[in-house]
Amino acid sequence: MHRKMTESLIFPRQGDKQNSDFFEEYLVRLLEERDHSGLTDIIHEIEAIMITVDPGHSIRYIGELSLMTPYHYLVTLESEDHWTHILRVDMNSPDFLVREVKDPSIQGVFRSLNEIYPIGMRKPNSRYMGEILRVDNLHEVVEKQKEREFRFFSQDQIRRMQLPGNLAISKPSPYTHNIVSYMERPLDQIRTYALGVSAIRDDVQEVYLAAKSMQKELGINDLIMPIDHLATRIYSQNREVAILEWLSLSSYYYWGSYDITDQNSSTNVTKSVHCPNEMQSPAKVFTANNTPYFVNHLEKLPSPTETFVRNYGPRLHHIALAVADGERNGMENIDYVVKQIASQGRDFLLDVIGSKDDGLKQIFSSASEHSSLIIEYVQRFGDFNGFFTKHNVAELTHAAGVEEELLEMQAESEITH
Ligand SMILES: [Fe+2]
Repeated sequence: MHRKMTESLIFPRQGDKQNSDFFEEYLVRLLEERDHSGLTDIIHEIEAIMITVDPGHSIRYIGELSLMTPYHYLVTLESEDHWTHILRVDMNSPDFLVREVKDPSIQGVFRSLNEIYPIGMRKPNSRYMGEILRVDNLHEVVEKQKEREFRFFSQDQIRRMQLPGNLAISKPSPYTHNIVSYMERPLDQIRTYALGVSAIRDDVQEVYLAAKSMQKELGINDLIMPIDHLATRIYSQNREVAILEWLSLSSYYYWGSYDITDQNSSTNVTKSVHCPNEMQSPAKVFTANNTPYFVNHLEKLPSPTETFVRNYGPRLHHIALAVADGERNGMENIDYVVKQIASQGRDFLLDVIGSKDDGLKQIFSSASEHSSLIIEYVQRFGDFNGFFTKHNVAELTHAAGVEEELLEMQAESEITH
């Protein structure tokens, strides 16, 4: 049978950030080889994202997500040391796996990734772990990726970590500290995770239902859409390798990079070759400082991105959700959503920025006390299909940096007192 070959290099390049010759050469070589090997065609969309939280935090985190996102609580998988809650919008968008460690003293690789960073260590079990990608043939993908020198946890290690047994899971990236997992599933089958004993927990269901009825009462339940993008922050010197590594592990393409000169950083965007609509497979964004921290004293430039990475380690910084285009009660939807959520005591780091004329408006919430992740809302107007405006990104980056300085001061005073 003749198999169609997806071409990953035909997409127009966006952005103004210059890349090195190394990057441009290996972008072409890696994606050509990925296409020819068949990997591009058998690796599909992001099937789920995985987050771990500290003991006692998952139920409140699910309450937060149920209010601030379109996700629904589905079921909890209980294993010896963990609860893994499954949240879903529908089968056209990725699931959310929220995993809570039962015992605060438990050790493990994900905890180790937090422990050497001054703010990351304060919530040792809380971090974004990575994505699960849907594949046609798990064995074929893993064998090919091993030939390309990617490393995977063994089945025994997966069992001991109490992660779903039907996944193949890569070792954490040295650049992003995220894992990439693969799960085989034909499109006409429901997603299942082979882990523990499944039950709908009354205490989780109660918090979920209360949040959903509040979402309805606030009139925002039909305005918040699935995930638009996932933004990972990395050290400045890892910008290009982190992008190329992710492209090698996925079937995403390089959309382009923008220099955010004001904040001495860049925003680098990759998207799925198979799903032009981000709702089906979110864009993956990488943010890196333009210069490493140790030249700051010479350059005197702001460095919020590098500071974040030094404080938390490389990791996911925010999850962006799309807001439906339109108006409610005389306000643009995003303003309405933010006003209603803020009325429930949730803080935002700044006002909604951007405008209808710019094509999009955006805002960052404060970081979740449960996951340390920020929620971004983004509303695009009319037929605007750009990803962001430089001005917005500069303001968002700045605002997140200011909040972090406060956390840093708190962390220091905890150590000295
Ligand atoms: Fe973003």
